[in-house]
Amino acid sequence: MCGIVGYIGHRNAYDIVIKGLKLLEYRGYDSAGITLLDNKTYLYKKKGKVSDLEESIKDLPKGGTLGMGHTRWATHGEPNDTNAHPHQSQNGKFIVVHNGIIENYADLKKTLLEKDYSFKSETDTEVFANLLEYFYLQGNMSAEETVRMALSRVVGAYGLVILCADEQDKIITARKGSPLVIGIGQGEYFVASDATPIVEYTKSVIYLNDDDVAVISRDGLQLKTIKSSQSIQPHIQEVDLNIGELDKGGYDHFMLKEIHEQPRSIADTFRGRILPDCSDISLGGLHEVWPKINNARRIIIVACGTSWHAGLVGEYLFEEYARIPVEVEYGSEFRYRNPIIYPDDVVIAISQSGETADTLAAIRIAKAQGALVLGICNVVGSSIPRETHAGVYTHAGPEIGVASTKAFTAQVTILTMMALKLASNRGTISQDKYRMAIKELTIIPEKIERALGSNEYIQYVSEKLKDSTNSIYLGRGYLYPVALEGALKLKEISYIHAEGYPAAEMKHGPIALIDEQMPVVVVATKDSSYEKIVSNIQEVKARKGIIIAIVTEGDTIIKNMAQYVIEVPETAEFLSPILSVIPLQLLSYYIAVMRGSNVDQPRNLAKSVTVE
Ligand code: G6P
Repeated sequence: MCGIVGYIGHRNAYDIVIKGLKLLEYRGYDSAGITLLDNKTYLYKKKGKVSDLEESIKDLPKGGTLGMGHTRWATHGEPNDTNAHPHQSQNGKFIVVHNGIIENYADLKKTLLEKDYSFKSETDTEVFANLLEYFYLQGNMSAEETVRMALSRVVGAYGLVILCADEQDKIITARKGSPLVIGIGQGEYFVASDATPIVEYTKSVIYLNDDDVAVISRDGLQLKTIKSSQSIQPHIQEVDLNIGELDKGGYDHFMLKEIHEQPRSIADTFRGRILPDCSDISLGGLHEVWPKINNARRIIIVACGTSWHAGLVGEYLFEEYARIPVEVEYGSEFRYRNPIIYPDDVVIAISQSGETADTLAAIRIAKAQGALVLGICNVVGSSIPRETHAGVYTHAGPEIGVASTKAFTAQVTILTMMALKLASNRGTISQDKYRMAIKELTIIPEKIERALGSNEYIQYVSEKLKDSTNSIYLGRGYLYPVALEGALKLKEISYIHAEGYPAAEMKHGPIALIDEQMPVVVVATKDSSYEKIVSNIQEVKARKGIIIAIVTEGDTIIKNMAQYVIEVPETAEFLSPILSVIPLQLLSYYIAVMRGSNVDQPRNLAKSVTVE
């Protein structure tokens, strides 16, 4: 949610910042801006994409070796040139880029208005820039002292990069709730919302913690906290991310690349975690906490969006195999409803980014109430893995497309391994069945490869559906979360209204919507509810709905009932979500492309939602 890049060193700052903003554009893309300090302050902002900003300033001066930029996902104020970041204080002393929300901005603004400050934008960030200037002009303080003092008055979440026109050799950066990473080069430093714009230049990074304030000059970096001017020792880490993973690899969109990467990303997810003879699963991050998980009274899964759908699959897996009751919660609901949490509950937070504000808040509540809190995350070093007691990384590689694809299948793969291992620990699965299940999991990548082979036929089906305005997705059991995920994918990127439903629930409402215009996508591979879902398909057919069915290879029964049939290879029921979601990802992708949507950057969405 909003991308920030800063640079101080010996190279041209503009080139580094603009390139970094393009890599971070998946975090927000409604407007962009850049500030360069080169004896004087250059400030350029533009509604739209980073490329619009670039085009609008192509003939303007862009010198200097210190600068910062921002690509925005609007929270306060509509996307336009004025509300775009960076924001400058009234007399131009401070320039600020900000990710997050300053919750008490209205009170601060009122005070500043009384002090004769005026505001150009509707943003909370401009209020903060003016607050800085107000304190700075009051007394004999350095820019750093001013920042620390102003932050002690701020309530909310932020990742901030701040420049002071009077101190042209410094970048000040601060974090609370919104991630910031500092890259350390030779006589140069980089700041960004995540490591993607940094790895081209250096792998040595510092992830800021909440309440950290870093003052960066070309000669070095000083880390302090908002409360204390005492320097603290930064924890320098090596980041494990390759620049090669950050391009489209010949595909038209990141989303398509990421869909096609799934045979490999899933293999990466279980690599090294399954014994070569498939006799056992070993999840290093959970070694020490298994005794507590084995005896859990209950498992509570918290997540948002696609990760929540993975959590629903987890519910089916844990309950079926490990026989532990599971609740799946939206982070945003859990955090505000005073949930009952027992010390022998195990809470699992699932998050691709590891930064989703609502999920983070939920785990803090669970921790405070004594539960064991685990994380399943993709982004290494992100906030959730750092705040949980233990966890497992999905290792799916960077996911850039805003619509999540390979992260979902990787999350389900981890949940599958956790559920099987837990079942084995608890003796709720026989060792024979355990081995067979593991074996079946290891051949899933080949089956995904085969499922991807329906690409061309799915394009044909997409052509037929692309002008629909509504659609219904149905599934039962393990395939119900897949129906939800298929519907979410479609609405996210094609803007077609789509509802996911448990197939049998259709008759309690959505069936009223079915007529000859209504596409009904039914996930109906061969499993224990197959006969039941065949009856549901009959009910749709009787109302003349357009049936698109995802079926197991060789299915003849549904083939005779549905207008379009997309096949996936046969697999065990508990693995069917990983496989059957693939055609739904492709279907939404092609429909969106045919409708002319910006697939990787759909309107109003952001990849990582760091505000509540
Ligand atoms: C945003 C993204 C979704 C994602 C959700 C949760 O809404 O657009 O694709 O599923 O956040 O994100 P997380 O990083 O916690 O999985």
